[in-house]
Amino acid sequence: MQISLSSAQAQAWSGTVLALGITEGDPQGWIPAMEERFSISLSEWLEQRKFSGKCGESTSLQLLNPHCTCLVLLGMGPLDSVDINGFRQAAAAAARASLEQSGSLGLSLPWDAVDPAEAMTAAAQAVRLALYNDQRFLSKPEARVHPGRLELLGEPLSNSLDSALKAVHPVCAGVELARELVAAPPNSVTPSTLADSAAQIANEHGLELKVLERSDCEARGMGSYLSVCQGSDMDPKFIHLTYRPSGPTSRRIVLVGKGLTFDSGGYNLKVGGAQIDMMKFDMGGSAAVLGAMRSIAELRPNGVEVHMLVASCENMINGSAVHPGDIVTASNGTTIEINNTDAEGRLTLADALVYASELEPDAIVDIATLTGACVVALGDEIAGFWTENNSLATALESAAADAGEGLWRMPMHHPYRKGLKSLLADLKNTGPRPGGSITAALFLKEFVQSSIEWAHIDIAGTVWSDKGRGMDPPGATGYGVRTLVNWVCAQTPQAET
Ligand code: BES
Ligand code: MN
Ligand code: ZN
Repeated sequence: MQISLSSAQAQAWSGTVLALGITEGDPQGWIPAMEERFSISLSEWLEQRKFSGKCGESTSLQLLNPHCTCLVLLGMGPLDSVDINGFRQAAAAAARASLEQSGSLGLSLPWDAVDPAEAMTAAAQAVRLALYNDQRFLSKPEARVHPGRLELLGEPLSNSLDSALKAVHPVCAGVELARELVAAPPNSVTPSTLADSAAQIANEHGLELKVLERSDCEARGMGSYLSVCQGSDMDPKFIHLTYRPSGPTSRRIVLVGKGLTFDSGGYNLKVGGAQIDMMKFDMGGSAAVLGAMRSIAELRPNGVEVHMLVASCENMINGSAVHPGDIVTASNGTTIEINNTDAEGRLTLADALVYASELEPDAIVDIATLTGACVVALGDEIAGFWTENNSLATALESAAADAGEGLWRMPMHHPYRKGLKSLLADLKNTGPRPGGSITAALFLKEFVQSSIEWAHIDIAGTVWSDKGRGMDPPGATGYGVRTLVNWVCAQTPQAET
């Protein structure tokens, strides 16, 4: 989809679908303006439909007009309480209302109610992401019609607007890559195809790639990670992608993603409503970091070196699979009693976090579909995150807020650490059920060098949306890409001043 700016006001625009944001009570007088432009009596029609401009309302009508065939009206709520998420919702609704029409979509929203560059970027992202449609696995893909051009209307053209909009495609491409990786079935996305995807990003966008094979991981003593894939026919792939800025580096950060391409639970098999058939999405963390790397590689932020790590594998069962009760040793020497083979994500992340710490970064953020407990706590619209560093917490909260992704800080409650005590080994991999997402975070903490800023994000709920919401069609959401990209790009030296 081509995105452009047009200083034309809505009443002067010609194209195919005109989508117009109406604030409550229409203080801007758009409705009379449209009545005049198209010679229609809109007010009564809207009254019949009970459209008054409340937030989330939307209605559309076909016009017999060569300069505009469809008018979409989007409620934005009261003018003084319009926020950036309102722009996302309205833009996504406009995109859906424009399906079946080719040509151009003109979008006119009250940009001035917030920062116009931010509002326009958010709206343009939302249009593209709402139109995303995955037909890769259909034998006969359907021809899907939607406007090929998006025109953002009504703001004077400027360089800053132009450059803000330049980020829309790279960011959306990252989100779409993440959605594709998550939605693809586990016989299609495997540890080695994940490594291939990383190689493709590296080749196309100039990143460095290193893939550690099983023997390399053995040599590094990654006994925790390797225990998870003992029962799988697929070789593990430990993927390390690096973005280096062209100029000097002032910050080095590491993004770590959980990359279980399938999680059967192992001998603690997922039974009785444990959603085993959905466990292709257990590589959602790796999809988020791969997607973010794709975006970052295109955006090329200054001054920040970004490493991406994914300890990818499958959690399966055969005669070599890990037994519940096995004791394994992670690459930092910590011994772990695996009292539950279904708590495998943290076993893979443990060795990845040790490796991340060895890169001596300024900060590490890991992202993982780690616990059902986090879904119980926060549902599927909000991810949980844990960090003991308040400035990192603030930075992630603002990155997520700007991205329109729900993120809520959870407590790193040290007293629960005792739930991970083992009689024999240094640690067990699971504690009691209550507070399960907190003990998972405390388990991970054991593998991060304590002087390094670190945050853990649990996306078990947000990785997938059954019904879809706003700019997310039903299915894989690509959650985390936008937050991570915002966070990384906010670390460039210019951004700090
Ligand atoms: N991949 C799951 C977490 C998960 C569950 C994600 C449901 C999305 C939806 C993870 O590997 C897991 O199985 N966690 C266990 C941990 C438990 C054994 C302590 C869980 O949450 O049940
Ligand atoms: Mn599991
Ligand atoms: Zn898992």
